[in-house]
Formats: sequence, structure tokens, C-alpha cells
Amino acid sequence: MLSGLMRTHHCGELRKENVNQKVILCGWVNKYRNLGALHFIDLRDKFGLTQLSFEEFKGDFSVLKECSLESVILVEGEVRERPETARNKDMGTGEVELMVARLEILSKAEPVPFLPTGKVDATEDLRLKYRYLDFRGGRLQKMLSLRSETMQKIRARLVEEGFCEIETPILYKSTPEGARDYVVPSRIHKHKVYALPQSPQTLKQLLMIGGADKYFQLCRCFRDEDLRADRQPEFTQVDMEISFATSSYVKNVAETLIKAIFPVASDFTLPSLEYKDAIRLYGSDKPDTRFGLKHLIVTDLFKDSSFSTFSAVAQGKGMIKALFVPADLKTFSRKETDALTELIKPFGGKGVAFFKKEGEALSAGISKFITPEVLAELEKRLQANDEKPGEGTWFFVADSSEMIAHDCLDAVRRHFGKTLNLLGEGHSFLWVHSFPLLEYDEKEGRFYAKHHPFTSPLPEDREAFFSGDPEKLRYCRADAYDVVCNGYEIGGGSVRIFNNKVQECMFEVLGMHKEEIDSQFGFFVEALKYGTPPHAGMAFGLDRLIMLIAGTENIRDVIAFPKTTSAMDLMSEAPSSPSAAQIKELHFNWS
Ligand code: AMO
Repeated sequence: MLSGLMRTHHCGELRKENVNQKVILCGWVNKYRNLGALHFIDLRDKFGLTQLSFEEFKGDFSVLKECSLESVILVEGEVRERPETARNKDMGTGEVELMVARLEILSKAEPVPFLPTGKVDATEDLRLKYRYLDFRGGRLQKMLSLRSETMQKIRARLVEEGFCEIETPILYKSTPEGARDYVVPSRIHKHKVYALPQSPQTLKQLLMIGGADKYFQLCRCFRDEDLRADRQPEFTQVDMEISFATSSYVKNVAETLIKAIFPVASDFTLPSLEYKDAIRLYGSDKPDTRFGLKHLIVTDLFKDSSFSTFSAVAQGKGMIKALFVPADLKTFSRKETDALTELIKPFGGKGVAFFKKEGEALSAGISKFITPEVLAELEKRLQANDEKPGEGTWFFVADSSEMIAHDCLDAVRRHFGKTLNLLGEGHSFLWVHSFPLLEYDEKEGRFYAKHHPFTSPLPEDREAFFSGDPEKLRYCRADAYDVVCNGYEIGGGSVRIFNNKVQECMFEVLGMHKEEIDSQFGFFVEALKYGTPPHAGMAFGLDRLIMLIAGTENIRDVIAFPKTTSAMDLMSEAPSSPSAAQIKELHFNWS
């Protein structure tokens, strides 16, 4: 440790071995006890607590009255072993105390809005407004240390693999990742704006064209989109791009990084699942694979059913999906099965049908419509999913839209995962690949890129891509992949288009006009003409990685100064109104 600090030790450091040593500690007053003849302060810093005793204090005791809670003080004295009866096993420094000889108040605290280590939790809004007080509670400090350690491990592993860390600009131009841009008006260029990058996608591809070979960056990205527990308007990516790489190299890099930062076996590999199978089995492209309860597609079994709701869906273009919960996991009350309807409403669903099997008998719900042949087929398909048939409850979602059927049964499965305590402690990873290249927007009658417009079609689907036939384009797959952990998308990427003709064809498929392409990506399409190496890459969401390693469910816990779900910083009250001078300088015409 370098010299020059005001203290000799931190507040979590002193042990029996330090007894009789003269030390200096600095920290915050966590607690003050005045027992008449005896006075104690618990002194706190990032590293822990130390008990200060004033038994041998020769100074003016009135100074203790000045030591309000959360004041910053410096104390000097000798370390003493605590009497047997006064030892505290729950405290790292619980065997010793500091006999204070000198106390200096470095910064007296006024009454704080809440006590960081108090017994009563302050509301989240108050903790966000006084984030620096919340840090003192210790929990957030641990998160920030974990974040810092994880970033160092990522950097070390990537540098070892030959990656070069390169910074890219924040004041830039629109980068297409599907969200709205945050824009920054230019003072010098009247009525022009910079866009903050949604990711450094085009920049890292330009670095490949420039011969950077293996790039990475722990970079800030900005997206103006609806926020959720795992989304922030500005967040950090572990962004990577590699020349002459196939998706299999990118997968190897993802695996080596996971091994570097998660507690997984040394022979860990990412299990692969094609997108269409993820949707079939889980109704989601980011399934939580810590538990089973896989979906079955059973539309065909109900084509001639006497249950008209199902037969209508089966005879149309809809889908019926089923899921089985064995009785040894749970038997459901009427109230519990009814509540599922409310659960799926936000996903567009109308209802969840069910029946029970007890012994060999079927009961409740739609049991009277389940023929022995249908039951036999349901159980056969369940076995094909590696799940055991028997007593339990079968649940069904039927909808004229396939996507609604998938989404609703996904919601039901996730609900059971949580409420039946199936989630466990560990991490379950997945490499989901071969996503659709494009998404068709029925309302607008045009295609959108599912990942981003620089993603290459899978080699086997290239012919379909060049055909320009909308029917074929709908089923065209991309050489794109996501990394999923415990139901969260923690990373995503793709093999890129490296030929400017293919790139132009992609823009055409997306219905972009020449002027639009030229103004948005002209520089990029031009660069593709001057010798572009095949390249691929991906980005992990750093905040989500830390959230999973720390075992918390809110991304705000792992970000030093996060924003609320309405994209506000409660501490600084950003966003705020510009001054009159700024309005003028930036050529705003605000009414
Ligand atoms: P993508 O948009 O999939 O890909 O983002 C990569 C990863 O970033 C994380 N992420 C977020 N984390 C917190 N808050 C957000 N608002 C947010 N949005 C995304 C997710 C996601 O998997 N340029 C491409 C990568 C590439 O193709 O190389 C990209 O940005 O964990």
C-alpha cells in the first residue's frame, strides 16, 4: 500500500494480532452509546465496523456530543482485546476495540434524511435521491466492488485472448438497435443534432475494416425505450468484434468470459438451442432453463374436438399449447386456476383451460372433452420432452395468433417457476441461435431487421434472402445468437454482412430508399467497398451480468447512479429545463 493516507488501518481490519499497536482510524459515526461512565462509538467505513472505547480518553468529553450520527471523524489510540463478555462474533473486528486517545471531527453531519444502516428501510425514491447515503449501508458498496472486479476479470481475459480495448465516440450519429435515440443539439451547427450511440455497432465494424482484428470495449450505450427491471436508458456493454471469426469462435469467447466471471465448472460449455425450438419448447427466445415444465404444441389433437373453442382455433391458423404440472409439485385449487386468466391478459390471452388427472380418472375444467386417445398422445409427447406423465394438472392456451399462444404459456410457465420454487440458486445458460433475420410489421406492411441491418443471413438461407420473395423472407434465418441466463438475455450478436452488395440488398429488403441509406449509413456502405474482412461479434449487457452474479433482480442495484423507470435521476433532478441562454445558443424554438 502506498503511504500518504490519514489512517493506518481501515475499520474492518483490526484483529487480536493488532493488540497493543497504536493505530489511526477514519470513518463515519455509525452508532454512539453513552452508558454514563462508559462511552462507545461504532466507527464505520466501506470495509466494516470497529468499536471505539473512551475508557482512557483524556480529552474533553463534550466533543462526543458533537459526533452526530454520520459525522466523519479521525481517532488515534491503542488496540485492546475486548473482555470475554464483550466480544461480538458477528463483527469481523469483534474481538478488539480501540482505546481512543485523540478524536478529531473531520466533518460534522447534520441530521441525515435516513440512516444508511438503520433498522427501517427508507423508500426507494428517498434512497435514490440520497444515493450517496444509501452507498454507506454497505450493500451497494459490495455491488460496486463486485462490478469493478468483474470488469477487471473481463478485461484481463480478453487482453489475454489478443483483444485490443478501443474507445469510440459518444457524440455520434444514429445507430440502429431498434430503440429511439437520445439526441444532443449542436450549438455550432444550427438545427443539427448528434445521437448518442445505442451501441457502437457501425464503429466496431469500421474498426474491423481498419484492421483492428479483435476489438473490445466496456462502453456506455443509450436507448430511449420503455424501462423495466432489467433495462436502463444508459447501460454498459461488453462490446466485441472479431475479424475472420465464425459464430463458433464468438461462442468460445462467450464461454471463456462466463468461466472467468461466473462460478461454473472448468469444462463449462454453452448448451445450444435453435430459436424455433426455444419458441416451441418455452414460448420464449430467452427461456429460464433452471426448470422443466416444457411446452407441447398440441393443435393437431383438437382439430375434431367437441370443445368448440379449441376446434375453432385448431381449424384456423391458430395454435394450442399445453404444459403439465405433476401432482407432486402442486395440486391446484379452483381459485388458483382461475387466477391464471388474469396473469395472461396482459399478453393478449383470453383464458387458460385445464384438467386434472387423479389416478386414472380425469376431472375438472375441460376433462369431459379429453378422449383416451388425446390423453395418450399428450402423455406420449410429454415423454418426448423428457418429462414424466402421471397424476397432475394439464394447462392449455389456445389462440388464433401463434405468438399470443407462445407468450401466454410462457407467462404461465414463468409464474409456476417462481411460485412452485423451481428456480434454485445456480445459473442456467443457453446459446440461442438462428434467429429470424427479419420481422414483418403487418400494420406498416414492411420488414424490420430482427437484430440489426448488418446481420448476415445463415449461409443455407442466403438463396431465400436474395429471392426477394416476401414469403421466403419471412422464414429466412440470421447467423445471429443470444446468450441467455436464468430467463434474461445477457448478450447478443451476429456474423456480419461484409459485402456491400449484400448490405445494399438488405437495405432494399428493409424498404430503405437510397437517400435514406446515404444520409444514415452512406459512409459505412462506402467503407464496405474498400476491402472488408469477414467479421462477427457480440455484446454482453454488463449490468445484467453483474445482476445475475450478485443474485439481485433489479439492474438499479448494480449501477452507481441509476435512473428511475421514468428515466429520471432523482438526485440531480435530470432531465432539467435548459437555461434561457442554452435555448438561444442551441437555436431551440420552444413555446
Ligand atoms: P443488443 O441490442 O442485443 O445488441 O444488446 C446487447 C446486450 O445489451 C444488453 N441491453 C441492455 N441492458 C440494460 N438496459 C438496456 N436498455 C439494454 N439493452 C440491451 C442486453 C443485450 O443482450 N450491437 C449489438 C451487439 C452485436 O451485434 O454485436 C447490440 O447492441 O444484455
